[in-house]
Amino acid sequence: MSWWKSAVVYQVYPRSFADSDGDGIGDLAGIASRLDHVAELGADVLWLCPVYPSPQDDAGYDISDYRAIDSTFGTLADFDRLLAEVHARGMKLVTDLVVNHTSDEHAWFAESRSSRDSPRRDWYWWRPPRAGMEAGAPGAEPTNWRSAFSGPAWELDPATGEYYLHIFSRKQPDLNWETPELREAIYEMMRWWLERGVDGFRMDVVNFISKDPALPDGRGDGGAFVSGSEHYICGPRVHEFLAEMHREVFAGRDGLLTVGEMPGVTVEDARLFTDPARAELDMVFQFEHVQLDQGATKWDLRPLALRDLKASLGRWQAGLAERGWNSLYWGNHDQPRAVSRFGDDGEHRVRAAKMLATVLQMHRGTPYVYQGEELGMTNAPFARLEDFRDIESLNHYAESVAAGADPEHVLASLRRMGRDNARTPMQWDASERAGFTTGTPWLAVNPNHVEINAEAARADPDSVFHHYRRLIELRHSEPVVAHGDFTMLLPDDERVYAFTRRLGDVELLVLGNFSGAAAEAAVPSGERWRAAEVLVGEAPDGPLSLRPWEGRVLKARSAR
Ligand code: GLC
Repeated sequence: MSWWKSAVVYQVYPRSFADSDGDGIGDLAGIASRLDHVAELGADVLWLCPVYPSPQDDAGYDISDYRAIDSTFGTLADFDRLLAEVHARGMKLVTDLVVNHTSDEHAWFAESRSSRDSPRRDWYWWRPPRAGMEAGAPGAEPTNWRSAFSGPAWELDPATGEYYLHIFSRKQPDLNWETPELREAIYEMMRWWLERGVDGFRMDVVNFISKDPALPDGRGDGGAFVSGSEHYICGPRVHEFLAEMHREVFAGRDGLLTVGEMPGVTVEDARLFTDPARAELDMVFQFEHVQLDQGATKWDLRPLALRDLKASLGRWQAGLAERGWNSLYWGNHDQPRAVSRFGDDGEHRVRAAKMLATVLQMHRGTPYVYQGEELGMTNAPFARLEDFRDIESLNHYAESVAAGADPEHVLASLRRMGRDNARTPMQWDASERAGFTTGTPWLAVNPNHVEINAEAARADPDSVFHHYRRLIELRHSEPVVAHGDFTMLLPDDERVYAFTRRLGDVELLVLGNFSGAAAEAAVPSGERWRAAEVLVGEAPDGPLSLRPWEGRVLKARSAR
C-alpha cells in the first residue's frame, strides 16, 4: 500500500530548529520538545537532515561516522527518544542518507588514503595526474570536472601522489559504488537504522552514485573546469544499484518511505526510478522548477516566467501520471525561502505564502513542507559577507571576486540565492532569540521574528500556519487530492496558475494569482465554477476573481 500518497512530510533542519542546551545550535532534544508543533500541523512524516558525527564542513552532509550522533546534536539515546516521541504522535521519521560521499575524516577514507595498496583504496575514486603531467601542476587534475562548491573536483593527496574525486567540498570525497564491498557496507548500515526503527530515507544526490568508470573529461567550455556532470548524473549503473539496494535493504519491509534527491533527473528517468514494478524508490526530488529563474549557474538570476513554471510542473504531473510518483516542494535547506522567491515577502506576504501552499499542496504527489514555510518565513536581510556561513556561498564569493567580479554584485546574488536564507533559526516566538536558543545562534535570527513566529501564527486563525493545517487535513480527508487526475489550465496566462483535479464525480479547481494585481481566472466552464463550493480560501469578489497573490480551491460535482 502506498500510504505516502496521502501523506505530507515536514522537513527539519536540526541546526536551526530548536536548541535545548544553549550552545546556539539546534539539537535532538530541542526537536523532541517542539514535536507538537509538527503534529498539530498534521504532518505524517518528519524528515531529519543529517545529525551524524561530522566536521560540519557542509553542515553535516560530510559524515565521519554513519552509526552515531554528533555530540552537538546529542547522543544515540537522544535519537531513540526522539524516534519514540515521533512514533507516539502517530508520525514517522525519515533520516537523511548521504552515501554519494563521506567526510574525509570518515575511517573508510583514512584507510583508503593510507596507501595505494590499502584494501579500501577502491572505496573512493583515486586517479594519477593527467598523463604527462606532474602531480600538483596546474591542470594536472585527472579530469576537468568542477566541484559544485567551486574549483576543481579533484584534490591531490601528497602521501600517495594521487588525486581523489570530490563533487562537493574537498572534505567530501566521493564513494566508489563500483566496489561491491562498499555497497554491502552501506546496505548493512541502512538495515541497522531500519532495525532501530527509522521509517525510511531521504537519499542525498543519490543519482550521482554511478559514475562512468572511465571518468572522461566533461564537455563544454566553462574555462579550465566544466561541470562534467554528464558523466555522473544518472550514470550507467544507477538503476542497477538502486534496485540492488531495494532488494538488500527494503524488500519485505512495509510502511517505509524512500525519496531520492536527484539534481538533473529527467521525467523519463524519474518514471523508471519510481515505477513500483521496478522496485527502486518511492519518489524523487527533481530540480527543474527551482532552476527556471536561473541562467548558467544558480547565481545567475533571471525573472521567473509563470508559463515556464506551469509548463515544467505540468510536464512532471503528466509524465508520472500513469506510473511513478512526484514529490512536491517549493523550498528546503538548499533553496531560498519560497515566499521571497516565488511570492511576495512584503505587503502581501501572508496571502502569497497561503497561495503558494494551496497551489503546491493540491498537485498530485507527496508534498514536503520545509520548517518555517508554514509560518511564511522569508529570506534573511544578510548585509555583509560575514553574515553568511554556508561553504557554497563563501567559496563562490571567494572564487568570483578573485576572478574579478564586482563584490557587490556577487553579494546581491548570495542574498537572493544563498542557502543560509533557509537556515536561519526557526522563529518560535517574538522574544530576542525567537525562542530558538538562550545562547548566541550560529546564524543570526531574522529580525522579522517579532512579527513572524509560531506562537503568533497558532493564535491567529487566519495565519499561514492554520492554512497549511487545513490543506494537510484536506489531503487526508478528500481522496481527490491524493489520487485524482490532474489537468493544467491556462498554460499561457502570465498571472494565474490554474488546474483541475478529478476523481469519480468530484472535481477541484485550483487557482493561484502569481501577481500583485487583481486577476480574473478565464477558465473553461466558467459558469459551472461560478456556482461551485469554495473549499479553500475566500471569494469576496466572486469565485473566479483573485485578489493580488490570492489562492483558492473550488469544488464541484462533475457533469458526467
Ligand atoms: C545535497 C544536500 C546539500 C548538500 C549536498 C552535498 O544537495 O541537500 O545540502 O550540500 O547534497 O551533500
